[in-house]
Amino acid sequence: MQLLTRMQYVSPKRGQLHQEHPNASGSHQGLRAKADSTLLEGTMSTIAPVTFTVSQRKKVTTRTFQQKKERGEPITMLTAYDYPTAQVMDQAGVDSILVGDSLAMVVLGYENTLPVTMEEMLHHCRAVSRGAKLALLVGDMPFMSYQASVEEAVRNAGRFLKEGNMDAVKLEGGRERIEAIRVITGAGIPVMGHLGLTPQSVHQLGGFRAQGKTAAAAKRLLEDALLLEEAGCFSLVLESVPARLAELVSQRISIPTIGIGAGVGCDGQVLVTHDLLGLFDRFTPRFVKKYADFHSAMQNAFASYLEDVQAKAFPAEEHSVDMAEDEWQALLKEI
Ligand code: KIV
Repeated sequence: MQLLTRMQYVSPKRGQLHQEHPNASGSHQGLRAKADSTLLEGTMSTIAPVTFTVSQRKKVTTRTFQQKKERGEPITMLTAYDYPTAQVMDQAGVDSILVGDSLAMVVLGYENTLPVTMEEMLHHCRAVSRGAKLALLVGDMPFMSYQASVEEAVRNAGRFLKEGNMDAVKLEGGRERIEAIRVITGAGIPVMGHLGLTPQSVHQLGGFRAQGKTAAAAKRLLEDALLLEEAGCFSLVLESVPARLAELVSQRISIPTIGIGAGVGCDGQVLVTHDLLGLFDRFTPRFVKKYADFHSAMQNAFASYLEDVQAKAFPAEEHSVDMAEDEWQALLKEI
């Protein structure tokens, strides 16, 4: 569905995309999906029925983030790395999509986020940008794309907007990143900060462990949050920190905080989509809520396919191309 302005909707009967008939009645705002007999080509009859409310949503910007914080409306964010996932998520109405460097682990199969490159990140950013039209798109700057020098940091941040079609970048770290953040925001590139458990520092942190648990560490994290705000970040991810600390930080800074394993007191929430969908089976962090079990669903689908092929139950007649009898007879005469 493109921007919903084309008024496509999903049939509750067959889970199929439709375009609204030009004469259809009903305002665009709040029009409920309904069944239609004029189906577009291509069926997806095995897909579970989906309905959603069509509304006049607008492109989410960094300003929308700020307004949501001011109104006390939670900001929703998810990670995506490919076109179809971004498209479905965008249609579901997510405020923001992060092309996270978690790509390294949940898609590319690395042990941690360190190996993923700028080229890999940009490749996936472009795919996501083709699928998502309304969500604020944030590209995650990979390890060593912003740490070595401020010049490299701003150049690489720029590539996320120019080549990756992102709206903003995210980078990890506190006081040690202030200079880079100033220069990047000075170039007109919105920056999302990231404090607490910063996975690119996994070796320095001694593993993927919660942060800010002592009074001293919590004070340092609050100071860093204030510094990031002052340096020009439009928002801040807080990962794996005590809920009461995240709530305090959210109250003390004027930019929105986006929590992951940081409790309900943040201004918004983000999850790694492969965790939420139950698609990444190596481990599940304690703070993840699984909303589906795609790993089992895929196992079942693949097993059924193998069974069908082995039993010659697939392809059936409807999956095969027919040839006219006269053409067939003509061929037989020729050979
Ligand atoms: O890379 C990522 O997915 C992230 C989120 C966990 C915030 O940084």
